[in-house]
Amino acid sequence: MYILGGTSATSLATVLSRTLNQPLLKTTFKRFPDDEFYIRLEEPIEGEDVLIVQTAYPDAKIVELLIMQDAVCEAGAKRISVILPYFGYSRQDKKFEEGEAISARAIAEHISIHADEVITVDPHKEHILEFFTTPARSCSAVPQIAEYLKGKNIDLVLAPDMGAKDRALQAATLMGCESDYLEKTRIDGTTVKIHPKSLNVHGKTVAIVDDIISTGGTMANSIKELKHQGAKKIYVACTHGLFAGQAKEKLTSAGCDEIIATDTIESEFSKVSVAPSLAQALVHLA
Ligand code: R5P
Repeated sequence: MYILGGTSATSLATVLSRTLNQPLLKTTFKRFPDDEFYIRLEEPIEGEDVLIVQTAYPDAKIVELLIMQDAVCEAGAKRISVILPYFGYSRQDKKFEEGEAISARAIAEHISIHADEVITVDPHKEHILEFFTTPARSCSAVPQIAEYLKGKNIDLVLAPDMGAKDRALQAATLMGCESDYLEKTRIDGTTVKIHPKSLNVHGKTVAIVDDIISTGGTMANSIKELKHQGAKKIYVACTHGLFAGQAKEKLTSAGCDEIIATDTIESEFSKVSVAPSLAQALVHLA
């Protein structure tokens, strides 16, 4: 089996290659003067299994993925597995208003064309896996996030909304502490309201765990509410750190003690690797 690491998952592909003890496929990537993407596989892969690792975010990385899949298919790979550390567009998983697209389905269907299997990490909602027309499954980064947080003497793990409470509970159980959740209303893409909810956080060290940090609005408002209620230290952790716009500044100025994300999207906050979870999900292929 060969591992083909795309430009949005270079480090993760390298760690996976080491963990699974399978070689990285030699490739040439470049961009034409008009910025169109080019790939050439530098080794024959006819009859081989190939694992493509590429985060489908932002848009240009989705195009790169489709072109990589085409190259691997053209070269006669026996089986193509696509690892999507982060599946972009997964939050538009239904029509919230008439006239909208189901963007997650549109992307999933195209990725399925040259994929025998798709594996993603902590999808926003599990039902998006059904949008792929090829077998698709997920694995979770929560055990790795919990492992990292174990060293921080956390008293309480919080979800920023009810939809994320199972994730917080799973992390808390692994860390041997309590969990609870905040109540959030989303006003629009950049504005959320965290409702005051009496939590026993006075003098405590709290970790807020979510699947995605995008604009940072959810976490920043949660931090402010917890500070108001007397929390001593606040860690924020997510699987997918998009950190759009001024997210980092928002979190820091709200009084966050540490920001933790995984390497599904590579950033300065990628302190936790999802490679162990992916390797476990892939062990049958190695
Ligand atoms: C939404 O349901 C997600 O789980 C996250 O809470 C959300 O994507 C975070 O977005 P933002 O950082 O822009 O508040």
